[in-house]
Amino acid sequence: MSKKPVRHQAKNHQDGDPSTTGHSWDGIEEFDNPMPRWWLWSFYACIAFALAYSVAYPAWPMISRATPGLLGASTRADVAAEIKEFSDRNGPIRAKLEAAELTEIAGDPELADFANNAGAAVFRTWCAQCHGSGAAGVQASGYPNLLDDDWLWGGDIEAIHTTITHGIRNTTDDDARLSDMPRFGVDELLEKPQIAEVVQHVLAISGQEHDAELATAGAVVFEDNCAACHMEDGTGNRDLGAPNLTDAIWLYGGDVAALTDTVTYSRGGVMPNWSPRLSEADIRAVAIYVHGLGGGE
Ligand code: HEC
Ligand code: HEC
Repeated sequence: MSKKPVRHQAKNHQDGDPSTTGHSWDGIEEFDNPMPRWWLWSFYACIAFALAYSVAYPAWPMISRATPGLLGASTRADVAAEIKEFSDRNGPIRAKLEAAELTEIAGDPELADFANNAGAAVFRTWCAQCHGSGAAGVQASGYPNLLDDDWLWGGDIEAIHTTITHGIRNTTDDDARLSDMPRFGVDELLEKPQIAEVVQHVLAISGQEHDAELATAGAVVFEDNCAACHMEDGTGNRDLGAPNLTDAIWLYGGDVAALTDTVTYSRGGVMPNWSPRLSEADIRAVAIYVHGLGGGE
């Protein structure tokens, strides 16, 4: 009997089945199926592409940066070029913004539009952390709402521009807006009962519930100690940054506890001067933006 030269023929091998690899586990055998051609060629093509790519483009990590690649492609350079292109394109209008009279910018639609857009971006980056992203300030935190028409230092474009340029009560700008409310309690300028009286007076002039008797006594204290800055009727004085106390808008809070703290310790809100950080065009842009928010005068 001659043996047929069938390689690793399985017992249950059928005609047409491929030959097996010879691996057999408990009688289960593995067919010797080659990869399909199309798959193999795609695989080789991928390898060839990867090699070519890694030579042409930045690819292999080295110590300080990746290999640059023969084509010199750099997304970083692309971004830099794009930024330069935009700033070149904005160059003339920025120059125009710097040269214009502050009060005339709003009347030039193209310039005002540019200033508002640029100003909104400056605001998001430099101002929102204190004044809130919508510029509504933070209630009773000392960071004023810039949307209303209640201005500490003035709401016309010139005043806003000055406030932003030099800041308020900082130690970094000699022209910063400056005024300090005395610390009536700490420095013993007023006795505790007098502070309680004047607080009741402030409650009265701001239209809140108050003790009429104390408030009457407080009116005298107010006239002697507070009217110089907040004016006799309590409506404030922008030359001194002294807030209007008769509206219901509070920088630090209008209840008895907050008012007592303000009079006892005083507050002294500080804003940085922006002239060292922002260009004149950016300061003007953000001034226009703030002026246009609703409360500009
Ligand atoms: C570190 C916090 C802080 C940042 C940042 C800041 N401000 Fe202020 N800003 C203040 C404080 C506090 C006051 C109120 C000071 C006071 O009590 O007089 C103020 C007041 C103002 C006022 C005066 C409002 C009024 O009623 O007269 C304007 C205008 C203003 N900020 C604009 C800006 C702009 C624009 C920016 C961004 C370029 C900015 N601020 C960034 C804290 C900040
Ligand atoms: C030298 C000027 C000056 C005098 C005098 C003065 N203030 Fe003020 N007052 C200010 C200034 C400036 C502010 C704003 C302070 C800040 O932003 O830090 C202020 C803020 C306040 C506030 C906070 C208002 C708010 O919106 O939260 C109250 C309340 C107040 N003063 C009451 C008084 C009373 C009451 C007296 C008198 C006992 C008085 N002030 C005397 C300048 C003055």
